[in-house]
Amino acid sequence: MQKENEYIPLVEQVMEIRKRGEVPLAFIRTYGCQQNVADSEQIKGFLAEMGYDFTDSPENADFILFNTCAVREHAEDRVFGNVGALKSLKRKHPSILIALCGCMMEQEHIAQRIYKSFPFVGLVFGTNCIHQLPEMMYKCLVDGRRLVVRGNQDTVIYEDIPKKRDGTFKAWLPIMYGCDNFCTYCIVPYVRGRERSRNPEEVINEAKTLIESGYKEITLLGQNVNSYGKGLPEEEKMTFAQLIAEIDKIEGDYLLRFMTSHPKDCSKELIDTIANSKHISTHLHLPFQSGSDRILKRMNRHYDRAKYMEIIRYAKEKIPNVSLTSDIIVGFPGETYEDFKETVSLVEEVGFTSLFTFIYSPRKGTPAAKMDDPISYEEKNKWFQELLSVQEKISAKRCADMVGKQYKVLVEGYTNHNNELQARTSGNIIVELPCGEENLVGQFCIVEITQAKNWILKGKII
Ligand code: SAH
Ligand code: SF4
Ligand code: F3S
Repeated sequence: MQKENEYIPLVEQVMEIRKRGEVPLAFIRTYGCQQNVADSEQIKGFLAEMGYDFTDSPENADFILFNTCAVREHAEDRVFGNVGALKSLKRKHPSILIALCGCMMEQEHIAQRIYKSFPFVGLVFGTNCIHQLPEMMYKCLVDGRRLVVRGNQDTVIYEDIPKKRDGTFKAWLPIMYGCDNFCTYCIVPYVRGRERSRNPEEVINEAKTLIESGYKEITLLGQNVNSYGKGLPEEEKMTFAQLIAEIDKIEGDYLLRFMTSHPKDCSKELIDTIANSKHISTHLHLPFQSGSDRILKRMNRHYDRAKYMEIIRYAKEKIPNVSLTSDIIVGFPGETYEDFKETVSLVEEVGFTSLFTFIYSPRKGTPAAKMDDPISYEEKNKWFQELLSVQEKISAKRCADMVGKQYKVLVEGYTNHNNELQARTSGNIIVELPCGEENLVGQFCIVEITQAKNWILKGKII
């Protein structure tokens, strides 16, 4: 990091001359999951140290960056469309630097397509190169050459990258990077590299600093948080359950969340820890992907329906009011309507609070992309709609059951129409509240649920 940090004042000097306005401005757009959001916070940390301020409008920016996601084709298409639209901007202001980073850039065919089709993109970098940002930017700005830096397979975790957090009371805290699970449909292990865990002391200290500086909600991040600690040196060894139990001991009024849990590694120890904790949320996001054992095997998920249901039963027994959510893929290659119906029956059996449902999207280079996939997209879409309508009824019933009860919520901001407050329960359910005199944003309060309109809850502050 020392060498990289030497470039920070150099970029600052260059931008002193090149900036278009009073201060150099950066526009950052982040696609994809919270891991990408957390990466963008590091990128913004570097930019702030290099003297940049931030803008919501690409037209005013000296530096434009898209942090991309590769998980489904739709995510990639959006990026291609939006990058194309920057061409005229670069023509109008040739001094601006346009950059692309994130998961899409770690795919060889995509990086090549970007390089050829978008000559106005000056910098492309991969997911494991953020620590080199000042150096990469300096080279682009000074030499005027186009730079592609990616495929970095090193598993070093750079702890001293600065961070500029988006939130003032909610924070993302990555505890591990990469993924080793290789679910057959998924691109993440190819674009994020091998799984590695941060040193537990670093994580606990960061949590402590956040809580002491007034953060009310911390979300621990990892693609499979349940396998946290694998590969740590013997003297640092810690399981995920032990890690959150340690963080939970920190004094203060805060809520601790985490994502994502993989059912194959979700231990009873973890559920006991949640049940016995002071600060850990009662929300468990546990993606099961498919209710059919045949499909789970083809997905390489390493659990079956019975094992999944065993965890769910244990969680319901130990954590009162546990709120369960899941990810589901509809139309995995070779899935039949009978397989799909098993997914529907699992959804009915569990009674999830809400679901994140996706139609299977083939990802180049993954094993599933080579499997026979005879069902048409239109047919899959019908199944998808069927699943949505099943879940809508379940969500509506779960919400109706909450009416008349009291919950502690964190007020997060205002609704889209700005006439009500938006708050969230520990179980991750949104509640709308009338605005009072006092500014409650960023604070916990106790509310009573007064009304449930399908899956929108209305409440009043007690
Ligand atoms: N690591 C997390 C999730 C990562 S991606 C986990 O294992 O649960 C988030 C979700 O996107 C996945 O849970 C899956 O449901 C969905 N997803 C991943 N690859 C997909 C693909 N090729 N097509 C459709 N959905 C996909
Ligand atoms: Fe993808 Fe599976 Fe890893 Fe999740 S656990 S990121 S779905 S490979
Ligand atoms: Fe997308 Fe990369 Fe996250 S592919 S879902 S941004 S890890």
